[in-house]
Amino acid sequence: MSSGTAIPYVPPSAPFNVQQRAWLNGYLAGRWSFAAPGGDATGVTASAVATKSLLILFGSQTGTAEGLAKKLAKQSSQKGFTPRTAEANACTVAELAAAERLLFITSTWGEGDPPDNATQLWAALNAADAPKLTGLSFSVLALGDKNYSDFCGAGKKFDERLEQLGAKRIHPRVDCDLDYEAAATAWGEAALAKCGEVTGEKTANLQPRDAAPSGATVTDQPVTLPHSRTNPFPARLLVNRILTGEGSAKETRHFEISLQGADLNYEAGDALGMFPTNCPALVSDLVAALGCDGEEAVKAPDGSETSLRHALLRHYQVTQPPSSLLAAIGERAQSAELKTLLAPENKAALEKHLHGREIIDFLLAHPMARFTPEEFIALLRKLSPRLYSIASSPKAHPGEVHLCVGIVRYETHGRARKGVCSSFLADRVEQETPLPVFVQASHGFKLPVITDTPVIMVGPGTGIAPFRAFLEERQISAARGRNWLFFGDQKRATDFLYRDELETMFKNGVLTKLDLAFSRDQAEKIYVQHRMAEHAKELWTWLEEGAHFYVCGDAKRMAKDVDAALYEVVQLGGGRTPEQAKEYVQQLKSAKRYQRDVY
Ligand SMILES: Cc1cc2nc3c(=O)[nH]c(=O)nc-3n(C[C@H](O)[C@H](O)[C@H](O)COP(=O)(O)OP(=O)(O)OC[C@H]3O[C@@H](n4cnc5c(N)ncnc54)[C@H](O)[C@@H]3O)c2cc1C
Ligand SMILES: Cc1cc2nc3c(=O)[nH]c(=O)nc-3n(C[C@H](O)[C@H](O)[C@H](O)COP(=O)(O)O)c2cc1C
Repeated sequence: MSSGTAIPYVPPSAPFNVQQRAWLNGYLAGRWSFAAPGGDATGVTASAVATKSLLILFGSQTGTAEGLAKKLAKQSSQKGFTPRTAEANACTVAELAAAERLLFITSTWGEGDPPDNATQLWAALNAADAPKLTGLSFSVLALGDKNYSDFCGAGKKFDERLEQLGAKRIHPRVDCDLDYEAAATAWGEAALAKCGEVTGEKTANLQPRDAAPSGATVTDQPVTLPHSRTNPFPARLLVNRILTGEGSAKETRHFEISLQGADLNYEAGDALGMFPTNCPALVSDLVAALGCDGEEAVKAPDGSETSLRHALLRHYQVTQPPSSLLAAIGERAQSAELKTLLAPENKAALEKHLHGREIIDFLLAHPMARFTPEEFIALLRKLSPRLYSIASSPKAHPGEVHLCVGIVRYETHGRARKGVCSSFLADRVEQETPLPVFVQASHGFKLPVITDTPVIMVGPGTGIAPFRAFLEERQISAARGRNWLFFGDQKRATDFLYRDELETMFKNGVLTKLDLAFSRDQAEKIYVQHRMAEHAKELWTWLEEGAHFYVCGDAKRMAKDVDAALYEVVQLGGGRTPEQAKEYVQQLKSAKRYQRDVY
């Protein structure tokens, strides 16, 4: 990543054709400049430096951090700041060095990694030639999930690195779990107050050309969605159809949900968020294990009064146990085993012990641990919504949203387990059951704006979901760009999801190429990454012709293997060295031609 260039540009070596390079250079020049009196050589108009300029950067995979950054920008402009909001990768370290105040909001993905749209800034901050950031005052808000071992890992890393480079932390980092709203609001207010105390302005500041004087931000879109995560729309389920055939080891379902009456907009590439209801049978078991009848009064997370049963059904996470609850059970039951497992040095042993065990197992195994309903509820986490990649184009299915969901069912320690949301959808939603949903816009996973651009999609299993949406979108908008899909699963006979639709699309030419990998149809395992390697030459040609490359599905194994296969394609197909392949893939990412929706 270039660190000294005021306006990012696409170098001649970058993997674009002439038309794309010209378009991108124009786009980038239009997006960024350093404001200097009279403008600069690019003709970008510079505006006078406003007082209290504020840079708000976000690293966000599924839009949560981005949403918070936009909200913060609005609040900050009401407090007299001139905010500039951008994804982290859109900012160079030179721009950071020139900035005065930085509020940085980032989620964590993979295994403690920054989201895709923050990886380049992270790499640049760690480069040997990273500049000192002594003039920068900053604070970090980290988003994460305590179920992951490296909780808020990316936020912690950025926070530490900014300080190492000499930036001044003006407000301590706040690490948020999935119920982040209250902590994020408190952080925003306190961090803005601290930013207000930072005096002195530099002459050069990151200045997007299209920034409005009111403080509108680079990525600000008009707020058009009255229904949101905090105000979900009660949708109706229209269709619940099994996609996998008899004898499959999996249960994958297609759902169609009506958004009639909602003013919810979405685009192919977005995700649908959903608040599930817990399994009533499991809740009854928990109530019984607590020695209650379920009618006891407790507090819901918003402070209102409700019954214990209702709270467990609707408001709290009742499967995976939080460590505070385990500690309380260990304490009350005087369990030496639990206490040992919870010691910081036994993290790995605890993880192993937790695998396949839920709260109910610990309550039943430790009947000596007694809780009042209020005490028990206070030790639980808020039930968090689940996200699903939308499998439909809104143009093809107005007023509807389609999903492709793998239903989680397994048996451990003698008990049948069910994934909270997937089993809710599969088993417990009737047509009249309101389904609280919201749209989670994904700015980092979108079809190319230029519709002639070819696309390569790798989406095994439920990873097919957004590509069904992409293909419908390309078909209905008569896009001329070619489409290549890599799909895979266990067996062709039972797991070829959307087989009829895909074969029809292949026949009628919407799908230019369809490559399939069924891992269990032969002795040796064949996965999508193997199909990619077999087609290295042709994939390379598509990439050279400007194709965008998309991956969706399993983050733990598949996405890593496909990533490795992409480097292989560049080396084998393009005759590049490993170093050159690294550079090439990096450029694909910078140009947003390598996009991922992995979970
Ligand atoms: C951006 C995004 C897009 C997504 N898109 C899709 C999509 O299109 N389709 C889709 O199906 N999912 C998708 N997901 C995943 C989805 O959000 C849920 O995580 C998934 O449906 C499981 O949720 P659940 O509530 O049913 O299961 P949960 O109640 O959350 O249970 C899942 C947990 O159960 C445990 N578990 C599962 N199997 C076993 C086992 N065999 N042994 C022991 N423990 C086990 C694991 O701890 C696992 O984390 C997406 C996720 C994200 C973040
Ligand atoms: C596949 C996946 C991996 C994740 N890895 C981590 C992790 O390692 N540590 C963590 O604290 N949170 C992790 N999270 C939780 C996200 O950081 C959290 O949901 C965050 O609110 C998402 O914000 P975003 O929408 O801005 O990306 C992970 C979530 C997913 C779906």
